[in-house]
Amino acid sequence: MSFQRIGVLGLGYVGLPLAVALAARHSVVGFDIDARRVAALAAGQDWTGEVPDAALAAVQDRLTVTGAEADLHGCDCLIATVPTPIDGEKRPDLSALEAASRTIGRVLASGAVVVFESTVYPGVTEGQCAAWIGEESGLVAGRDYALGYSPERVNPGDRTHGLGAITKVVAAQDTATAQRLAQLYGSVNGGNIHIAPSIRVAEAAKAIENAQRDINIAFINEVAMILRTADIPVYDVLDAARTKWNFLPFVPGLVGGHCIGVDPYYLATWAEDLGHAPVTILAGRQTNEAMAGFFADQIAAQLAPGASILVLGAAFKENIGDLRNSKALELTADLTARGFAVDCADPCADPTALEHLLGKPPVTLLPPPRAYDAVVLAVAHRAFIGWGPADWAAAVEPGGLIADIKGVWRGKALPPDRRYWTL
Ligand SMILES: NC(=O)c1ccc[n+]([C@@H]2O[C@H](COP(=O)([O-])OP(=O)(O)OC[C@H]3O[C@@H](n4cnc5c(N)ncnc54)[C@H](O)[C@@H]3O)[C@@H](O)[C@H]2O)c1
Repeated sequence: MSFQRIGVLGLGYVGLPLAVALAARHSVVGFDIDARRVAALAAGQDWTGEVPDAALAAVQDRLTVTGAEADLHGCDCLIATVPTPIDGEKRPDLSALEAASRTIGRVLASGAVVVFESTVYPGVTEGQCAAWIGEESGLVAGRDYALGYSPERVNPGDRTHGLGAITKVVAAQDTATAQRLAQLYGSVNGGNIHIAPSIRVAEAAKAIENAQRDINIAFINEVAMILRTADIPVYDVLDAARTKWNFLPFVPGLVGGHCIGVDPYYLATWAEDLGHAPVTILAGRQTNEAMAGFFADQIAAQLAPGASILVLGAAFKENIGDLRNSKALELTADLTARGFAVDCADPCADPTALEHLLGKPPVTLLPPPRAYDAVVLAVAHRAFIGWGPADWAAAVEPGGLIADIKGVWRGKALPPDRRYWTL
């Protein structure tokens, strides 16, 4: 049975693409508590860059964007895609999930289906979320309404692994609801659905996916630190190792953002609550958290005190403008704290948001209007990968340093008198 009216709570990197995709076939109400976000979307603009203006315009008759929770009344399917960050003690912060669950509770009608997409640890959907919904509505999951979970895997900035191209895991408390959700999500990704046997299985699958990635990168980061100390070129070692059929092709780097740098703490907290010490998971986090400092050490050792530095990239990863929990910004702050005169440029990021975080205007013209003692490539945005001798000559003083954290400029001809450093 198809849904008549679908509510999506949270119109960010995950929720907006979902709401737009669903609106191709359904009537959708997109609700967000951020009035600025609602106004921008109502004006036809997605500042995350995930949904082109034309795609947003194409669904304007079927997608209502609103900041009024009353507009969610009458939805027979409610999907929550709100943030699940960590708090100052690196423990799960479920406050947005609680607020969204309570909103759902206030608008929920008997017989509706409620789906959570936010990344959590096993038990949260059927435990806390169902309890918050119940407190507001008096309704019981599995009796008065159906509860489901479908973890999100989209990879912002990645045009290959968008919503329509990746396998979607769905789960529900009952088989009929799981089938309905498989049909709903399958309608936006060509039926590429995996039905997990329970909500807890789907929650656990999501929690371990990003933790696995974090640990794999941490291993390579630790290897990079060891090889660096031994003065063995890291990327040359990886080139050689990668020729083995089952070597996993991870690369060293800064691990920030709100997924890989956060989700392992959800898994770790859950493990601790169960009485298990999550040694490997937290060791990976510890290594990755140390990388900005490691790179700052490496760069500082090659520069005179007070040298000028341009850091290229401020987003937490390549080809997006998302500045949340960015380790490139941490590197910038670290180098600044060491007394260097540091500027930062990121053509993907919103200059106003970046200025707010830097405490000074970012460099918006590239190559920059003046040359620096060092240029540090911190984020491998497409715009930087194509840099060549003329760009470096403009950006780096003769005798200056080109520090290529990501190794993307290896093997390229440099202008004379510039030093090149990579791992
Ligand atoms: N961004 C990703 O790459 C990605 C990938 C997979 C999974 N996830 C997970 O998906 C979830 C959402 O992530 P995101 O990146 O889309 O976050 P986001 O911050 O981009 O968007 C969340 C939106 O929810 C809104 N919001 C907050 N509280 C709300 C509430 N009570 N009611 C309605 N709206 C509310 C915010 O204003 C914001 O617009 C998180 O659990 C995240 O871990 C994210």
